[in-house]
Amino acid sequence: MNSKIAVIGFGNIAKAIITPLLEKKLLNPEDVYCLVNTKKSLENIRKNYKYDINIFQANSNDSEIIWDCQFKLLSVKPQQLKNIIELKQNKGNLLVSILAGVSLENLIKRFPNHNCVRVVTNIPITIGKGLTGISWGDDIKEDQKKFIKGLFENTSKIYEFPEYLLDIFLALTSSGPAIIALIIEALSDGGLSGGLQKQLSEELVMEMISGTISLIKDTNITTAELKNMVTSPGGTTISALRVLENKSLRSALIEAIVSASNRSKEFH
Ligand SMILES: NC(=O)c1ccc[n+]([C@@H]2O[C@H](COP(=O)([O-])OP(=O)(O)OC[C@H]3O[C@@H](n4cnc5c(N)ncnc54)[C@H](OP(=O)(O)O)[C@@H]3O)[C@@H](O)[C@H]2O)c1
Repeated sequence: MNSKIAVIGFGNIAKAIITPLLEKKLLNPEDVYCLVNTKKSLENIRKNYKYDINIFQANSNDSEIIWDCQFKLLSVKPQQLKNIIELKQNKGNLLVSILAGVSLENLIKRFPNHNCVRVVTNIPITIGKGLTGISWGDDIKEDQKKFIKGLFENTSKIYEFPEYLLDIFLALTSSGPAIIALIIEALSDGGLSGGLQKQLSEELVMEMISGTISLIKDTNITTAELKNMVTSPGGTTISALRVLENKSLRSALIEAIVSASNRSKEFH
């Protein structure tokens, strides 16, 4: 990538984005300038991180150097954003924010000398199976777009959106893993109730889910067709589905996604 990059907040998600780029030698460790808040994190990264990147503690004298980098990845928690103060610099540098729910308008107010881009990604990015949504701010040049896509394309599939769709993208893809984890847990408990050992029950649920997804993808059938295939008259599956309809599972899932999206809008 041949460019210096500053990472403001080198936590879980930032590491998941940057480490594979270092592994694949798409970034050189000496071109990565990271900032953390606490001495503990600073020392931990210096001692344990596999690559010899430049790492600084916020508010230390030498940390100002990160503002000289042309590209910045902002990856603090949304509630920590108030502590990040843009230092004086030339206009036109690029700031890519992965903060859940923080709007481009808010970013531009906070970082007026930067061209801002908003990115939403999700936790499977840590194993290279993420989903990343990008909303370009104003005046982003083609080479800058290429650079940003390069940061995420090794570890995720990229989707470009107008900003108003990022909240629902976030609800589905960032909150989604927690919803799926809860469904796996609940179905496994169902197996447990019927006498299966916990571990076996969970294994069966996960294999069943991944097999079902492969079947839909590989054979191109619709979800309705799959449901009909396994639901025979007066059988076990319709009995299970009747319970879920009675308990309004469908409606609960729809409302859960809408609620997560609305919550994201509140952070704007
Ligand atoms: N977790 C997810 O599933 C997920 C998914 C997609 C996007 N995101 C977004 O990614 C962002 C980061 O999440 P995360 O899970 O990676 O959080 P995290 O692990 O807590 O990382 C936050 C990092 O920011 C640093 N930091 C805090 N205050 C700072 C300051 N004033 N100056 C410089 N650095 C500072 C922290 O340093 P210390 O360690 O020293 O405190 C830490 O390195 C969030 O905004 C979140 O919305 C998260």
